[in-house]
Amino acid sequence: SDSQFTIAIDGPAAAGKGTISKAVAARFGFAHLDTGLLYRAVGRRTLQGLEPIAAAHALTPEELEQGDLRTAEIAQAASKVAVIPEVRAALVDFQRAFARRSGGAVLDGRDIGTVICPEAEVKLFVTASPEVRAERRFLELIAKGNDISREQVLSDVKERDARDTERSTAPMKPAEDAVLLDTSDLSVEAALEKAIKVIEAKKPAQS
Ligand code: CDP
Ligand code: CDP
Repeated sequence: SDSQFTIAIDGPAAAGKGTISKAVAARFGFAHLDTGLLYRAVGRRTLQGLEPIAAAHALTPEELEQGDLRTAEIAQAASKVAVIPEVRAALVDFQRAFARRSGGAVLDGRDIGTVICPEAEVKLFVTASPEVRAERRFLELIAKGNDISREQVLSDVKERDARDTERSTAPMKPAEDAVLLDTSDLSVEAALEKAIKVIEAKKPAQS
């Protein structure tokens, strides 16, 4: 329908996808889905001993709000289950329905512009150097009380980047028509301003 408008925001860990997505969704009145939470929720289930494909099929939206899914341990578990084609397949319908809901949607992840919503009206691929991203994630984890070193966060980020890029099903990569946004030297405000310019250029004016 006329009110469908999808913004796909992909990129590696701690590039700034979530920050941009939340602010963009608030600004335009769109719904936001952090698709990483789906893989994190399945990853958490596997840490509890469940089989990943069964866990992906049993996933409920409520589960995404239960407990802190943004830990280093769950991030690693998420990237391991994200390699399994049947896990990814089990999560597709929910993400596609969300993307095409009326009123507009912002989805952030790794394969939104390439696999989940290749027809998205706007595609951004947000990046930053591994060192900058690791420092950002380190500060976040420390602020939440997680006990982890800078070195550990950097090696985790690099390991996850490699696994996400090299998998054969839905690897992380910019869609051909994605706009690249390197936030290495940008403040949150500056990155957001650039993202909004890209979106404004593609968004039909409100009547
Ligand atoms: O927040 P951060 O970027 O660190 O991670 P996330 O977006 O929560 O994603 C956690 C893991 O889930 C990633 O490392 C990927 O392996 C996987 N993922 C994916 O494969 N596809 C997506 N659309 C989103 C996340
Ligand atoms: O969603 P993703 O994992 O890509 O990253 P995020 O959660 O949006 O951002 C990770 C951290 O980096 C947050 O604490 C942001 O405030 C910070 N950040 C930043 O310092 N500068 C930016 N340009 C973007 C994000």
